[in-house]
Amino acid sequence: MIEPTSSPKTNVLVAVAWPYAQGPLHLGHIGGAYLPSDVFARFQRSIGNNVLMVSGSDTHGTPITVRAEQEGVTAAEIVARFHPEFLKYWQDLGISFDLFTKTDTENHRRVAQDFFLTLLANGYLYTEEADQYYDEEAERFLPDRYVEGTCPQCGYTDARGDQCDNCGRTLDPADLIDPRSKFTGVTPVMKTTEHYYVRFTALQERMSDWLASREGWRPHVKNFAVGFVEEGLKDRAFTRDMNWGIPIPVDDLGDGKVIYVWWEAVMGYLSASKEWASLRNEPEAWRQWWEDPDAKTYYFVGKDNIPFHAIFWPALLMGYGGLNLPTDVPANQYITFKGEKASKSRGVGKPLRWYLDHLQPDALRYALAANFPESSDSDLVEEDMWRRINDELVATWGNLVHRVVSMTHRYFEGTVPEATLDDRDRALLDRVDELLAAEHSDISHVKLRSGLSNAMAAAQEANVYLSEREPWKTAKTDMVRTGTTLNVALQAIAGIAVGLYPFLPFTSPKVLATLGIETPEMGPAWGRPQVDAGTVLADPVPLFSKVEIEE
Ligand code: MF3
Ligand code: ZN
Repeated sequence: MIEPTSSPKTNVLVAVAWPYAQGPLHLGHIGGAYLPSDVFARFQRSIGNNVLMVSGSDTHGTPITVRAEQEGVTAAEIVARFHPEFLKYWQDLGISFDLFTKTDTENHRRVAQDFFLTLLANGYLYTEEADQYYDEEAERFLPDRYVEGTCPQCGYTDARGDQCDNCGRTLDPADLIDPRSKFTGVTPVMKTTEHYYVRFTALQERMSDWLASREGWRPHVKNFAVGFVEEGLKDRAFTRDMNWGIPIPVDDLGDGKVIYVWWEAVMGYLSASKEWASLRNEPEAWRQWWEDPDAKTYYFVGKDNIPFHAIFWPALLMGYGGLNLPTDVPANQYITFKGEKASKSRGVGKPLRWYLDHLQPDALRYALAANFPESSDSDLVEEDMWRRINDELVATWGNLVHRVVSMTHRYFEGTVPEATLDDRDRALLDRVDELLAAEHSDISHVKLRSGLSNAMAAAQEANVYLSEREPWKTAKTDMVRTGTTLNVALQAIAGIAVGLYPFLPFTSPKVLATLGIETPEMGPAWGRPQVDAGTVLADPVPLFSKVEIEE
């Protein structure tokens, strides 16, 4: 082990955006939130930290009920269709949630209602009457996505009351130009209704101080959040006129008032942590991530979720009191397809299932990770993905492992030969160690793309080393030299397999197993493991196949 983790374990909460259980996912979701969070979580486990990775299906609010009404089924039926589908994605892609739950559980309702009552007791909620859009034909209020119209920011004509899908802006229904009801298409009228409001205005100063103190955040996230708060926080409605959701635990506003889906969805991070702890029969265990001041919490979300995770959720946590605020919100920008944002509602980008049916999970993970939109949108072009898989993953890494293991079988009957290192041999191993250290630093700072390219640079170095040493030639003249070369190459491969593990969790354990190294459940310990001379290697197994997809 080159880099022992001497520091005590840190509790690391990996909190991942909750997808609406209302449609299949696409590569934009995976590359934007689920895969980056998984890479990060696997790395954190590998360096010995105590990781809790949670998320779940976002089951409430208008996104679900709108779809249910379109299909003439209940909201619960929509959820029952997509939640299991999500679980299958995680399994197929190796997304290693400790718990992926749902917001329609008893536990979540209890946690959200307690949150409401605590905010109320702490003076952060008050009731007020306000005008909201109302459909006189359907005789219903039109919260959020029940109103559509033109985006005041970008002019997109199908913007929804809560958000514009084109420019990503968070909207209020009253912002829309030419509003129309999703139920009947009529122009809605304003009507008075009473709601609870969160006193975000009272948190203005604390929020701006806290944001100013955040270090190491991605510039686009921090700039957005700081700018948003500088414009002045406004109080926001905490409740909605709906029946699908979590009813407020007080009856002074009458029936039919539920907590706004966004407010209870972000509370899901807390409720999922509590549920996980209960499922383990350690009901207090969630406190390690939420109350320990040394714990770290990372929220993996897409950029349209920045306001809710970098501003409103921290503000709600401040209002609640006693719980950890986010350490970082490493939000990604968008993955686009031919310049357009992938969108399940607009049919841009193929469904995830197609890619899972055509590619090995590690190949898909590799092609996505190499393109994570960390600092700007990244356009995903399939030919580019195939090229990366074939020329980088297969050629640089898969073939390296295969050649070295095969030569060890051919020349040494599969037994790791003894080595006597010269400077060049040592230089390769030092370089691999250096690149693993660089990757360690990158991933610790959530620079996952750079982390991956450092790991792949180590594979390239090993290839250069092999082509200089030419063991296939020296095998005819000098078995001592050949033995050292293969031994050194195997040591390098072991280290690279560990470095690639967060990205390639299906194949790295296979590589390590070939070298006689077991991968524990929590992943391999970070660093370059020693491959002992005399170890009998398993037969070489092909790790990856080339992608040959005809359009
Ligand atoms: N369901 C929301 C979306 O898909 C994300 C919710 S993240 C949460 O955009 F934290 F609020 F749950
Ligand atoms: Zn817009």
